[in-house]
Amino acid sequence: MASQILFLGLIMLTCSIALASDSSPLQDFCVADFNGPVLVNGFACKDPKLVQADDFFVSGLHLMGNTSNAMGSKGTLVTVAQLPGLNTLGISMARIDFAPWGVNPPHIHPRATEILTILEGTIQVGFITSNPENRLITKVLQKGDVFVFPQGLVHFQRNVGNGNAIGIAGLSSQNPGVNTVGNVVFGAKPDIPDDLLAKAFQVDVNIIDQIQSKF
Ligand SMILES: *[C@@H]1O[C@H](CO)[C@@H](O)[C@H](O)[C@H]1NC(C)=O
Repeated sequence: MASQILFLGLIMLTCSIALASDSSPLQDFCVADFNGPVLVNGFACKDPKLVQADDFFVSGLHLMGNTSNAMGSKGTLVTVAQLPGLNTLGISMARIDFAPWGVNPPHIHPRATEILTILEGTIQVGFITSNPENRLITKVLQKGDVFVFPQGLVHFQRNVGNGNAIGIAGLSSQNPGVNTVGNVVFGAKPDIPDDLLAKAFQVDVNIIDQIQSKF
């Protein structure tokens, strides 16, 4: 009986590990066929005989993103949508540009762990652990430093220098997803009822209305 429970426990553990990131490929590659009629988890494969080098290639990551926005930051993604050869490979990347004191606001990647390398500037990073501890783990990074944000945790980055800053992120999914906390909570379409959010955040409804108007 005890051994059966142990066996069951092992199976559950194995399954949860396997489901924590993109599933492993069963072939050399499966270049995304965006126009295919078949709906699957990810994208159907382009005919391997028609695959070209350009299916595994993208250019332009040397170009600075446009940081002229309210946050003062811009992420340039290289996920399966930009690079069809990433389909089924469980990996992607992004360049993140920061204006002086620009912020990449608190967000979650529902499907990926992120590993960030600082190429230029000084960047404060942080993530917050799950309930009930909600511990903020934060550090100031310099050029050449590397920091990892565990999958599914709320995290942020901020340029704490007076020059531009650049980071390159690796992500453990072909399609990591981005749920920006402000956008999902205050910019939902249609709005989450303001009295509900007033209760959730323990403030007056008019404060919620004011924040919702910014998203
Ligand atoms: C950058 O974005 C701003 C705001 O959207 C826009 O006005 C400006 O033309 C953009 N600059 C470049 C170089 O694309």
